[in-house]
Amino acid sequence: MSTVTKGISMLILSILILGLLVMIVLGFMLGFTHPLPWILIVVLAAIPLIHDKIIATRFVEWKESYSVGIDVIDDDHKKLLGLINQLQAAAHYKTDDEIVEEVLNELVDYTKYHFCREEQMMEKCNYPDFDEHKRQHDEMILQVSDYINDYRIDRTRTIEDVAVYLKTWLVNHINGTDQKYTPYLQECSHIKN
Ligand code: FEO
Repeated sequence: MSTVTKGISMLILSILILGLLVMIVLGFMLGFTHPLPWILIVVLAAIPLIHDKIIATRFVEWKESYSVGIDVIDDDHKKLLGLINQLQAAAHYKTDDEIVEEVLNELVDYTKYHFCREEQMMEKCNYPDFDEHKRQHDEMILQVSDYINDYRIDRTRTIEDVAVYLKTWLVNHINGTDQKYTPYLQECSHIKN
């Protein structure tokens, strides 16, 4: 979500809260026994809960269905999802640039480290789709580098775009590409799980 979109959302939310408060006051003019103001109070009280739920959807949680059946790779994927969540939190709570840089660097370094580990395993086991899989890894590293360069040139750009891209890419890649090698790597004598 861009800074402008976020600003507009906050403005709409503020107008909604203000509108509800006015309607509650007007509602009580109908009498304290009238249900309308009480219903509006419940709606008002639910806003923070709904807001928290919406924020929670921006973060990603590990699911057993993401497993590729190889512990060391699953651990890498869990670590990457954790770093993406840190980046999302940094974006959401407007952490200072130094911390965003630290998380970004760790995320990029660990992604490269993980891709390297996975590629070595696939090569050792003569995985038939190795070239296409590696091409996806290389393409992702280039895309993330572009995002990060854009962010470093223009700090007003939201880092949330990077977090959303990484979250979507990684979950789709694990479920759509990584899991295809599971039967090959599990059968491979070079891989110990
Ligand atoms: Fe787990 Fe192909 O990245």
